[in-house]
Amino acid sequence: MIAKKYFIIVLSLLSLESVVHAQVLLNRNTPQEVLAAMTLEEKAALVVGAGRVPGGNVANQQQPKVPGAAGNTTAIPRLGIPSIVLSDGPAGVRISPIRNGDSTQTYYATGFPVSTLLASTWDPNLATLVGRAFGNEVKEYGIDILLAPAINIQRNPLNGRNFEYYSEDPLVSGKMAAAFIRGIETNNIGTSVKHFAANNQESNRTGINEIISERALREIYLRNFRIAISDGTPWTVMSSYNKINDTYTAERRDLLTTILRDEWKFTGFVMTDWRGGHDWTAEMNAGNDLIMPGRPSQVQSIISAVRHDSLKMRQLDTNVLHILKVIVKTPAFLKYQYSNKPDLQAHARVARQAATEGMILLKNNAGALPFGSPVKTIAAFGNGSYNTLAGGMGSGDVNKAYVISIFKGLSNAGYSPDASLETAYTDYFKQVRAQAPTGNNSRRREVVIPEMTVSNDIIAQKANSADLAVITIARNSGEGADRRLEDNYNLTEAEKAQIHQIAHDFHSHNKKVVAVLNIAGVIDMKGWQDDCDAILLAWMPGQEAGNAIADILSGKVNPSGKLATTFPMNYSDVPSAKNFPGTPAEKPTQVVYQEGIYVGYRYYDSFNVKPMYEFGYGLSYTNFSYSPIRLSAPKFDGMITASLSITNTGKVAGREVAQLYISAPDKTIDKPMQELRGFNKTRLLQPGESQQLTFSIREADLVSFYTEKSKWIAEPGEYKVKVGASSRDIRQTATFKLGSKLTTEDVIHKALQPPMKIDEFKPITTNN
Ligand code: BGC
Repeated sequence: MIAKKYFIIVLSLLSLESVVHAQVLLNRNTPQEVLAAMTLEEKAALVVGAGRVPGGNVANQQQPKVPGAAGNTTAIPRLGIPSIVLSDGPAGVRISPIRNGDSTQTYYATGFPVSTLLASTWDPNLATLVGRAFGNEVKEYGIDILLAPAINIQRNPLNGRNFEYYSEDPLVSGKMAAAFIRGIETNNIGTSVKHFAANNQESNRTGINEIISERALREIYLRNFRIAISDGTPWTVMSSYNKINDTYTAERRDLLTTILRDEWKFTGFVMTDWRGGHDWTAEMNAGNDLIMPGRPSQVQSIISAVRHDSLKMRQLDTNVLHILKVIVKTPAFLKYQYSNKPDLQAHARVARQAATEGMILLKNNAGALPFGSPVKTIAAFGNGSYNTLAGGMGSGDVNKAYVISIFKGLSNAGYSPDASLETAYTDYFKQVRAQAPTGNNSRRREVVIPEMTVSNDIIAQKANSADLAVITIARNSGEGADRRLEDNYNLTEAEKAQIHQIAHDFHSHNKKVVAVLNIAGVIDMKGWQDDCDAILLAWMPGQEAGNAIADILSGKVNPSGKLATTFPMNYSDVPSAKNFPGTPAEKPTQVVYQEGIYVGYRYYDSFNVKPMYEFGYGLSYTNFSYSPIRLSAPKFDGMITASLSITNTGKVAGREVAQLYISAPDKTIDKPMQELRGFNKTRLLQPGESQQLTFSIREADLVSFYTEKSKWIAEPGEYKVKVGASSRDIRQTATFKLGSKLTTEDVIHKALQPPMKIDEFKPITTNN
């Protein structure tokens, strides 16, 4: 009797064990095994985000895990699949700083400099350093994937999101973004490189049809992504809102599968931009694995697409597997105990260092900068001296604990900025804000405060009492709208008149006038810059703005930033000026990229158009000399290196960014006059000190895309290597020969064909 009872107990234990064994869980089974155990409903739930209502609440949950984060994926507890959290954005973690009205514990994030400034450092190691600190905040706030970097090409200066992007050039953009991604991902959290691809304007951003040649796409608008993905291996990619050549990017299989996965070997998952795209089935079929932020109706539509066979289960399985393979790497899955207490002070120091390294000295007549010892009292004009812009608006904005204004930064540095001007400006801001219509202060837009007018009497008084004038020119912009030419790109007549008056009065006392550009993008320089003795382009330098600006103005840090985007002489010189933001003018639905590959300096250099400040330009408080270039071989054979040494020939320590451009022979297709193929920044060189720099030139640096042949080809002939301090300040040249035609084999088939013939620009002159 007793034996029989034991027998039954043993038997039931055995069967319990087999039940436990049968239970599939992501922490015990492979993603493939978990996939095999999923129902259609579960698969559909996983490929659609868990939803979001304004304010950051996740549908069906009282309190989201990270309030203010952009989105979450759907958890499937039965299979041990956790929800992962995704958060913006490129200049710092974007989450709510206060939860449930309780301000005893805050969740502020560091406001790092915007990406345009980071690119202007031309220092990948610094981008990695920023990424490492930034990624630590992502992780310590319980987030799994950062929705950054944003790397669209700065095709036109009016794009409202240019500050979130890096450069007009795909190499700078790709290399700097890759370094940033590597820094972020050392924290074992993910990134999402966005917006793939050609999201180059905000005007009708969710409907615009961008007509672009395959060559321009491959050489310019995709090349940056290709570099960022191959050198940075981001966990995810975000498709963009726009159409390319008639089809939404999220629905283009040639973009998201053929090019991204088959050609470039990307292995992570692709998500939509928020509420982007229109046809969920087409997105799944294209290889856009995750729909964000997600709605229940989208889950239903995926289920019905499988039932009606417009979406094959095989395809859905592929999408699910891509997501699962990333989920198993996330802190949420690994049950990381985040602290909610990142070291904000240490990160502020990184933000300040990065900010100083990316500011660009555009003009410095008669050594106006750095301030000499007679400078003590400073009259700071311009709204931006007090309301200094750390970053832009929209999802790229950060809820930071503070922003150091230029006024505060100058006083922290030991100067005496005029206090009565500060009172006048801050009183004025209060007044304007109090009168602003309510509801204007939404997530996307801030109250735009018109520039305060300072009376001529006050200007005359200050010219008498202060040692120097600082004029800050501030320009904000953000998601959802492009910048206006009239009063955002251009300075208003009132602004110019005021600068002129300040310059007149200060100069008549033999005192200097320094302009600081605290701007989201390129502005017009005409009609006012001659009034200024020095101009510092500070971009949007993050929360430590004022301290970093004072570091440069005082000479504590020698500026070493260079332009990663051209300042044209006139807006009408911009190659896309006639084709931005498209037609019809009232609400553009289509934009034709007539300039083709001739974007930024590729255009100005090939078409002999003189810019105001060229690509790669930036002054220093010292000078550098360049030794002749030594090439590793006279003939190209798979790779060639170019070395030279840079010497600091001036009186103060400094860093130099040397740029390598190649001019290729153009026998059967036209090529840009020159293209950036490498850059290198020296360490801090003491006066008289030298450093050897070496650049590697690889096959990918010689080839161009031959659309007819669907191949990357370099033609035989003589290649000119130029190393310079900017694209127009070439210091040394050398040449090498390519003996025979070179073809790389990575293009699978024709892709992204434009629906019409594009009448693309052709340069008048050729290189050889
Ligand atoms: C932006 C993305 C952002 C997303 C989530 C969209 O409007 O275009 O860059 O990551 O919102 O906030």
